[in-house]
Amino acid sequence: MPPPIVDVHTHMYPQEYIDLLTSRTTLPLIRTFPSSPLPRLILLESELPLLAAATANPHHTPLPGRPLSPHFTSLPAKLAFMARHSITTSLLSLANPWLDFLPASTAPSIAHTINTSFSASCAAHPGKLYFLAALPLTAPLPDILTSITHAASLPHCRGVILGTSGLAGGAGLDDPAILPVFQALAAAGLIAFLHPHYGLPDSVFGPRAAAGEYGHVMPLALGFPVETTVAVTRMFMAGVFDAVPGLRVLLAHGGARRRFWRDGWRVVGGMMAFWWRGGGEGEGRLGRCCGGRFTWMLWFDGSTAVKAAVDLVGADRIMFGTDHPFFPPVGEGADTDGVWESVAGNVRGVKEAFGETEEGEEGARAVMGGNAIKVFRLVGE
Ligand code: URA
Ligand code: ZN
Repeated sequence: MPPPIVDVHTHMYPQEYIDLLTSRTTLPLIRTFPSSPLPRLILLESELPLLAAATANPHHTPLPGRPLSPHFTSLPAKLAFMARHSITTSLLSLANPWLDFLPASTAPSIAHTINTSFSASCAAHPGKLYFLAALPLTAPLPDILTSITHAASLPHCRGVILGTSGLAGGAGLDDPAILPVFQALAAAGLIAFLHPHYGLPDSVFGPRAAAGEYGHVMPLALGFPVETTVAVTRMFMAGVFDAVPGLRVLLAHGGARRRFWRDGWRVVGGMMAFWWRGGGEGEGRLGRCCGGRFTWMLWFDGSTAVKAAVDLVGADRIMFGTDHPFFPPVGEGADTDGVWESVAGNVRGVKEAFGETEEGEEGARAVMGGNAIKVFRLVGE
């Protein structure tokens, strides 16, 4: 039997969450435009100028956000994606911005609904699916602790997914008031998956980015990793890991900034997202031009991100993740039912990082699944 492949970074929006976003008029929201067959999922502040333009003129191109394909919402699509890439087990999580935008009054009940929905999906596919719960971080502390108790009681829950905002919509993860949350997670054996959403202020990226000319490249390839790096550095500086020695944190995107320094792939992912943004000949040309420039004009030192990460923290600390359904195949004739280069590139990165020695293959097996099975206590049922 081939060794197990576990995807620890794979998102879904359950139907209840989609309904919520469809009913909203402020971010995050879902909008339908006459020029797009799929509704658009609009998450980022940086998409607001395009949203305003497309609201004034529904035929405006490019449209804001990204197409809300079934890959974001459908369990059969998730399972087909897993089968296509030989992924044996997935640890599902709600995608950003989770429940960060909800008022304190509704956040706890919506967290309960969402986590129950994930739990039911996992129960229908035992041993194949597990999940990370969403927390109602805008609610009072007792409600958050109740939500953690609920999550811990769900048999397929193995942790929580956390943004960087902390309590009360912005106090951060170095806020002493959030320590009881970390203590409760540690006591329940739930791992915190720290994931970015807010990026950097748009002003950093300049007016052309604000006008939508660079698609998602700046906020995703640059903003996301820096955001995660700042958040975890603040946690270190505040002594969170000393105060809660049982806390276990998984950092998204290969440890964020650390990975970006050495990783062409993540930048390529951003370029692809840019290309895929809308359709229209101009965009294809721009996408090809960016992609081409990337390979013609830059050189890297041969160490892939995976290798750099292994050198930094060791093979037993790195886990495979796809970030599905973000970074789908792009360009003309893109087949979202086929192999996703964003995944295949990561798999190649792991193989190249470890080489073909026996020890190397053992390391690759650990990264592709063995580490996750141990750390998240995943067992086939
Ligand atoms: N990956 C995510 O998880 N979220 C985004 O918004 C973009 C990429
Ligand atoms: Zn993600």
